[in-house]
Amino acid sequence: MRNLIIAPSVLACDFLNIGSEIQMLNESKADWIHIDVMDGVFVPNISFGFPVLEAINKVATKVLDVHLMIEKPEQYITTFAKAGAKVITVHYEACSDLLSTLQSIRSVGKRAGLAIKPQTPISVVEELLNEIDMILVMTVEPGFGGQSFMESMMPKVEQARKWLRDKKLSDTWIQVDGGISLSTIKRAFEAGADTFVAGSAVYKSEDPAAMIRSLRSALA
Ligand code: DX5
Ligand code: ZN
Repeated sequence: MRNLIIAPSVLACDFLNIGSEIQMLNESKADWIHIDVMDGVFVPNISFGFPVLEAINKVATKVLDVHLMIEKPEQYITTFAKAGAKVITVHYEACSDLLSTLQSIRSVGKRAGLAIKPQTPISVVEELLNEIDMILVMTVEPGFGGQSFMESMMPKVEQARKWLRDKKLSDTWIQVDGGISLSTIKRAFEAGADTFVAGSAVYKSEDPAAMIRSLRSALA
């Protein structure tokens, strides 16, 4: 099994104090910083775009993991790469030419992630396994933080883990995103996830850095 990655999502952070929020993550046990970009079209919510990502990139010392919940992400891959993204995840449901989009992420030297919404079967991922560095199994409907973890997504994670094992793709991550907390992270880990996004669980806790440590120890 790969190293386990804890990726707090800044969607739930205090944007008035984003500099100190990122500084806290730099000093914490977080591995990555998860950045949710929403366009109000692919999902019914709008978050933030390049100026915010660029500002985060100036202070962040951790990998910026950018989750694009936008239509036609292919138009923006180079700009996200220049703005500081190290992992760029696009949605299966949002791309007109998925293969070329994934290839363009790798061609700018970034890790390519492929996300699927709860209604999308895991089977769509199988033929693309050699083109991606991460599978993102959404465990809520994308668009908002603070929703409940969908345990019914765990068979998808199990199937993805089986493919990666059978095909010896040991460098491919399986990420879960949505409703990850102290009470759900273990279940996702047991199903085979190795990369865990947590928004509300971290930022709604009294001590976010301590919560990041606790999420990691819940997997020990
Ligand atoms: C939802 C986003 C998530 C969100 C997770 O569309 O992709 O990354 O921030 O938030 P929680 O952990 O609160 O479910
Ligand atoms: Zn996300």
